[in-house]
Amino acid sequence: MTSVPNRASDSSTDNARHLMFDDLEKLGRILVETGDIAHGFVQGADDIDVTCRDFSAFDPSRPLSRQGSGTLDALRAAKEEILPLLAASIGPRYLGFVTGGTTPAALVGDWLASAVDQNATGPEGSVNAAVEEQVINWLCDMGGLPSDRFDGVLTTGATVSNLLGLVTARQWCGEQVGVNIDADGAGVLPDLDIFAASPHASMVKDLSITGIGRNRFTKVATLPGSEQTDLADLKEKLEASDARGKIVIASAGTVNATDFDDLDAIADLCAAYGAWLHVDAAFGLFAALDDRRAHFLNGIHRADSITSDGHKWLNVPYDCGIFLTRHISVLETCCRAFAPYLDTKADGNSYINRGAENSRRFRALPLWLSMKAYGRDGFASVIRANCDQAADLASWVRTHGKLELLSEPKLNVTMFRAIGSDDDNRGLLDRINATGKVFMTPTVYGGRFGFRAAFSNWRTQDHDLVIVKQAIDAVL
Ligand SMILES: Cc1ncc(COP(=O)(O)O)c(C=O)c1O
Repeated sequence: MTSVPNRASDSSTDNARHLMFDDLEKLGRILVETGDIAHGFVQGADDIDVTCRDFSAFDPSRPLSRQGSGTLDALRAAKEEILPLLAASIGPRYLGFVTGGTTPAALVGDWLASAVDQNATGPEGSVNAAVEEQVINWLCDMGGLPSDRFDGVLTTGATVSNLLGLVTARQWCGEQVGVNIDADGAGVLPDLDIFAASPHASMVKDLSITGIGRNRFTKVATLPGSEQTDLADLKEKLEASDARGKIVIASAGTVNATDFDDLDAIADLCAAYGAWLHVDAAFGLFAALDDRRAHFLNGIHRADSITSDGHKWLNVPYDCGIFLTRHISVLETCCRAFAPYLDTKADGNSYINRGAENSRRFRALPLWLSMKAYGRDGFASVIRANCDQAADLASWVRTHGKLELLSEPKLNVTMFRAIGSDDDNRGLLDRINATGKVFMTPTVYGGRFGFRAAFSNWRTQDHDLVIVKQAIDAVL
């Protein structure tokens, strides 16, 4: 146990550090009080307003005080000044974006990850890398992927996973024609063609980050009334391209219509034209757990790389993304970090060489705890329930009279709007969200403004749908 140093010095900075040792002595009590606050917030998330619309009470410009007063005081301040102004995004009626909640086991795992604070870089002196390896295997199993062919890394989110997909794909394309982008830069392969029909905004951002350029991808047509890749158009465009490097970006669950590409057919085209296949399955990967929908993912095992997320449908806390690839050594070529002080001899995966960060949070732990606690069936039941909820909301909209669907939900997202103009609908979405009973985010689909209700939370139940429908009716 750490002994508390004497207050040997009069200096206020030394005394301030003493507060930390005082806190260490009181840690048991501090954790109990923190647990009570967290418990209150988590349990209360059903009843408080889903989002906070006025946080003017919090002044971001308030200067830092010189003297602190210890954790219990700071905790009380957080309880008064911050917690009441948060969104109940862990709650059952936060339907914005694709926001997962937090299972109790994942919450505990996340706390433990902070308490043990491993720098999850690799196998040196800690089991953390082996835990990440096991979690990656379990994720492959849940996604219906052969874990002897796929390997990967946990990231901060799907945006970074998509980034790793681009970087790995680009390196592989170079290697096919005898140039080494890792060593010599992207300029050695100026003719790189990227084909995408419905890339997520994060992928477009990644095109900028990689220096490829936001506008430097070949837009493939979508099938009428959908976000699915038009295979004939993709084939035509691949055929017409004389670039030495080709990357196809496909979707397994687009963010609006939750469309899935025909991955088997796209894999055939990639094989025929020597293209790398990257699949963005940020949340769609877990459709594999719903036997009514698992076939949407047919062919995904042929992808060269796959993006997914833990903080969406797996309901672990932010941040947790997943990147999987059949070419782990190519990823490691791009991401390896060399320095004598990093050169350890321990056996196992070095995750420092698989991603953007050198220092990494032990994100495998919340996933591990949650998977251990609820098993494959636990997650399957969340996926099925959320898909049923999206379908239920869609049938209500279909027969409502004042509302219309923007597309048929295939997975966990219902897009709809009121009959009327886009402007009317913008105002209506504001009024719906202002009820505090539900939160949805806007979208534009088929050129029309609408609302997206994305069901991705393990806590959402049938009675929540009743509340959502009442809230909408109340302001319609
Ligand atoms: C299909 C898809 N890809 C990528 C992302 C980006 O995910 P993240 O916010 O975890 O980076 C999202 C987010 O909604 C998504 O739906």
